[in-house]
Amino acid sequence: MKKLLVCVALILVSLSRCVNSQLRVGFYENSCWSAEFIVKEEVRKAFFKDKGLAAGLVRMHFHDCFVRGCDGSVLIDSTPSNTAEKDSPVNNPSLRGFEVIDYAKAKLEAVCKGVVSCADILAFAARDSVEMTGGFGYDVPAGRRDGRVSLASETLTNLPPPTFNVDQLTQNFDNKGFTQQEMVTLSGAHTIGRSHCTSFSNRLYSFNTTVSQDPSLDPGYAAALKQQCPQGNDPNLVVPMDPPSPNTMDESYYRGILVNRGLFTSDQTLLTSSATASQVIQNVRAPSIWKNNFAAAMVKMGNIGVLTGDAGEIRENCRVIIGQLRGH
Ligand code: HEM
Ligand SMILES: *[C@@H]1O[C@H](CO)[C@@H](O)[C@H](O)[C@H]1NC(C)=O
Repeated sequence: MKKLLVCVALILVSLSRCVNSQLRVGFYENSCWSAEFIVKEEVRKAFFKDKGLAAGLVRMHFHDCFVRGCDGSVLIDSTPSNTAEKDSPVNNPSLRGFEVIDYAKAKLEAVCKGVVSCADILAFAARDSVEMTGGFGYDVPAGRRDGRVSLASETLTNLPPPTFNVDQLTQNFDNKGFTQQEMVTLSGAHTIGRSHCTSFSNRLYSFNTTVSQDPSLDPGYAAALKQQCPQGNDPNLVVPMDPPSPNTMDESYYRGILVNRGLFTSDQTLLTSSATASQVIQNVRAPSIWKNNFAAAMVKMGNIGVLTGDAGEIRENCRVIIGQLRGH
């Protein structure tokens, strides 16, 4: 009987832990009711100046969540003793939009000091970016806390490179709790934004030991890409990832794949397995269903490895860990 009571007590304790560790829509409604509006206003301003920042923020949230969970670790600056995630070659110089998060954080600190986490600001900003580019809006469960660790070395093992094939992508997303279907859905984020030539120039000039150009890339498109990305790996050159509509969340990314115009191996490879290929076709036929699935997958992504309750901290400046300043 005593044993049973202990068991029941233990179960109750762990249940309440579960509940506590969950994010909640409207988390700031009492503590900082205007939080989501303030973030949206900053994203809107940034988007008005440079539409590409929306893509930057969506990617930034992905890169935050896949490395140590959605804990704002991607926002932390390197220090003399630590090379942070943002200075890994997968993020620097390509990741953009940090200043948008900084502006939003400064506004939020002015009205509700020490309340809204950087990780939540980024999750809100990614949602607003999806919305502003024509995707479906969605409620963002919040209550994430900011992490105190950011290591460049962890980006390489957690983020998929553009050279991955469908099996490798499926495995990489499975590691984060996603199905293959969700992987295909989320890859649709490449319907907006740009890529540096260096991210895919191997497909144009040095594919493998027998062929220089990737035969799965439409030759006409390859020729156009070679014009925009001459051999020599100029690190500054960029191209739109979905040239027909670079700032619009639409099905055009999937349409491109169907005609061998996926920019990366990791995009075009979705045509190489029957399950993923049929999903590509479905998404072209029913864009609204894809947009719905995309919104749901973004919410799911926003839950990866979150810190809640007393874990982590609420940073004052999203680039600087507070724990570190105090010598923890
Ligand atoms: C499936 C595996 C993925 C791979 C291999 C991959 C790889 C890449 C690469 C190499 C770039 C170009 C970076 C550059 O050279 O400038 C890029 C851009 C981008 N990625 Fe992904 N990505 C993947 C999944 C995702 C996911 C899940 C999202 C978001 C949900 C996402 C959002 C974006 C966006 C929006 C851009 C454009 C960024 C900008 O314009 O600044 N990607 N991705
Ligand atoms: C190079 O790529 C071509 C086309 O995909 C393929 O047929 C060939 O087997 C590859 N060669 C090597 C050595 O990997």
